[in-house]
Amino acid sequence: MASLLKKLFGRGEPRVATINPLGVQITVDGSQTLLEAALAQGIAFPHSCTVGTCGSCKCRLTEGRVSAITDFGYTLSRQELEAGYILACQAQVKGAITIEIENPGADLPAPEVFAGRIIRTDDLTHDIKAVTLGLDRPIDFVAGQYADITAPGLPARSYSFATAPERGGRQEISFFIRKVPGGQFTEKLFAGALAGAEVSVSGPHGTFHLRPGEAPIVCIAGGSGLAPLLSLLQHARKNRVRRRCVMLFGARTQADLYKVEQIEEIARDWLPSLRFVPVLSHEPAESGWAGLRGLVTDHIAATLPEGDRAEFQGYMCGPPGMIDAAIAELTRLGVPLPAIHYDKFTDAGTGKR
Ligand SMILES: Cc1cc2nc3c(=O)[nH]c(=O)nc-3n(C[C@H](O)[C@H](O)[C@H](O)COP(=O)(O)OP(=O)(O)OC[C@H]3O[C@@H](n4cnc5c(N)ncnc54)[C@H](O)[C@@H]3O)c2cc1C
Ligand code: FES
Repeated sequence: MASLLKKLFGRGEPRVATINPLGVQITVDGSQTLLEAALAQGIAFPHSCTVGTCGSCKCRLTEGRVSAITDFGYTLSRQELEAGYILACQAQVKGAITIEIENPGADLPAPEVFAGRIIRTDDLTHDIKAVTLGLDRPIDFVAGQYADITAPGLPARSYSFATAPERGGRQEISFFIRKVPGGQFTEKLFAGALAGAEVSVSGPHGTFHLRPGEAPIVCIAGGSGLAPLLSLLQHARKNRVRRRCVMLFGARTQADLYKVEQIEEIARDWLPSLRFVPVLSHEPAESGWAGLRGLVTDHIAATLPEGDRAEFQGYMCGPPGMIDAAIAELTRLGVPLPAIHYDKFTDAGTGKR
């Protein structure tokens, strides 16, 4: 009986993970996740939330078997699951495995905890505010990353930096925050109950940032997902990055578009070219809007030049449904899965509603 159980459940098999392209091997204790074991053995394994929601610890299982503590499918797309991607923070190792992690191509600053205060909120649309915080000292981050904000009596919530980083760090930081009906943090924020509030800020977190190289880029933003992409584009322009760029921005109506002038200004200076494409899903037919209508993901194919789609890198932020649809469309068009980078703006209700 004992040997049958051992055979079935693999008890006693050495749990060893080979991590490529580092070419290192680690042992994984039965009570640990793959991420916990890697960090305990000194591997700089990309990670952030550790609870299966951010996707930073995504890696590709090339040999062996793991089991998922929480379903990888809440965070990873169908295409990623089919290609063998797993979340190391949610993976328990069965026997010997081999995984591949991405070389992030940038030195990401180590997260720290800061004392902060909400010093200003400005309406961008009827349900998105620019929220500015003052910190006790400058924070160093890479364009595209996010911070976790904890207000008194509330759970921590993640928000992406909306401005480009500065040499020496930024002591005043901004975020674009969308009101989520029934949401603990955003309902209070929009009711004005957090004006001047002392908050704790932990960051920077996440691995979403512009990868090096000369590949053309396609950016896709939905709602407040514009924040990290604006940070990324501002930073790239400041650093004279010269890559062809297409920027799609999905919103419901003209009233939900914001920062358009700023994007158009970036587009004017951008070399060799930045094409900005706003797409409205619920704009009244009689409004006179001459731009594109429908879901932003329905317009990717017509916007990406045929012939060199496989050369593109994809950068996307926004609601989980938009990200999943965009990954499906980009991969259908031939953009390689490892060249697609995103932050899904998941919330406490994601996967439960
Ligand atoms: C990496 C990352 C970056 C992000 N960046 C941004 C950003 O830049 N801007 C931005 O606006 N947002 C961003 N988000 C989302 C943000 O972190 C919050 O999730 C969002 O603001 C909602 O927070 P909340 O406390 O108001 O709502 P929550 O309290 O999280 O509730 C959200 C919704 O879920 C419902 N809900 C809660 N629990 C359950 C349950 N058990 N079952 C069913 N429904 C439930 C609530 O009623 C509500 O409708 C980001 C998220 C991630 C992961
Ligand atoms: S660290 Fe694993 S999903 Fe966030």
